[in-house]
Amino acid sequence: MGGDFMDGIIKQGIEEIKREFDTEVAEGKNILVTGGAGFLGSWICDVLVESKANVICLDNFSSGLKENISHLLGRKNFKFVQHDITQPIFFNEEIDIVMHLASRASPFEFEKYPIQILKANTLGIWVALGIAKKHEAKFLYTSTSEIYGDAKEIPTTEEYRGNVNPIGPRSCYDEAKRCGESYVIAYRMQHGLDTRIARIFNTYGPRMRAEGIYGRVVPRFVEQALSNKPITIFGDGTQTRSFCYVTDQVEGLLKLAFSERAEGEVVNIGNDREITILELAKLIKELTKSSSEIEFHPLPKDDPMRRKPDISKAKKLLGWKPEVELEEGLRMMIEWFKEKER
Ligand SMILES: NC(=O)c1ccc[n+]([C@@H]2O[C@H](COP(=O)([O-])OP(=O)(O)OC[C@H]3O[C@@H](n4cnc5c(N)ncnc54)[C@H](O)[C@@H]3O)[C@@H](O)[C@H]2O)c1
Repeated sequence: MGGDFMDGIIKQGIEEIKREFDTEVAEGKNILVTGGAGFLGSWICDVLVESKANVICLDNFSSGLKENISHLLGRKNFKFVQHDITQPIFFNEEIDIVMHLASRASPFEFEKYPIQILKANTLGIWVALGIAKKHEAKFLYTSTSEIYGDAKEIPTTEEYRGNVNPIGPRSCYDEAKRCGESYVIAYRMQHGLDTRIARIFNTYGPRMRAEGIYGRVVPRFVEQALSNKPITIFGDGTQTRSFCYVTDQVEGLLKLAFSERAEGEVVNIGNDREITILELAKLIKELTKSSSEIEFHPLPKDDPMRRKPDISKAKKLLGWKPEVELEEGLRMMIEWFKEKER
């Protein structure tokens, strides 16, 4: 495995986020990041540590990796707590912001760990909100585009109420996230908590795991293409997604967490360029100069046919917009994968 995980592409990405995000607002703040050893959580921890915030990263390593945060362990403004957020936990130090990311998030995990996913977004958010209440901290919840289900309004605005199957194979995730949002609203109504909900649309980039059950579409295609193995498409590939590069996503999440104007808001964060899964497979094949065949497998039940966010609210409220083109983001991800395997 090449170098440590704080390699060139990640370092460069963190610098880019720091240029766009006003790091002064984070300096000296005490921030709890649940799920901080995961893909998005570890990028957030990196930016916050570099911004001189005091970071408590909480994770149970169910889908996160020690390698994602090992380079931060010696930093005096970084503390790691191994804990399952569905179990109560108390902190003596002050906490100014709670960012609740802890939850497995891959469709393959929906099948294997539905109960843990439900718990992370129900019991887990209840514990996390309790911490925010006790410390009078701001609260950011990472919800998902999945709460819209198989959306009939494209592009999808925050007003859309969703088309979700409560008893389908994805319900452990989409209904749990809907319940999580409901918890956030309840704590806001009953206790006046300062809350923010991010509805994240498909995000990709370095530190996503490709292998096995974690195989989300972009890292899975990249790994298959790099090893010249068949690229596996579920369905005929005409279903669409809109892919956001990790630096754009993390910048959006941090702006939402810190902006004074964003209190109480629910905001879509993602890239609004829509692409079919077949086009994505062909693009990755071309960028990796792969000889992989494209293989078609049955479409899983309730797989949404189209996904494209309306991001006007994020642009207006946060002064944010995605900057990284898909081709550029994929090139960085491919380079990172190659380096990791070296
Ligand atoms: N990446 C995306 O495209 C995307 C899209 C929509 C929503 N999200 C949301 O963003 C958040 C982070 O996603 P990610 O892509 O970084 O996934 P990830 O699986 O890489 O990270 C999740 C982290 O949460 C930890 N975790 C899970 N359950 C836990 C528990 N009970 N207690 C403590 N830690 C626990 C895992 O170990 C892991 O480190 C999730 O809430 C996910 O639903 C992500």
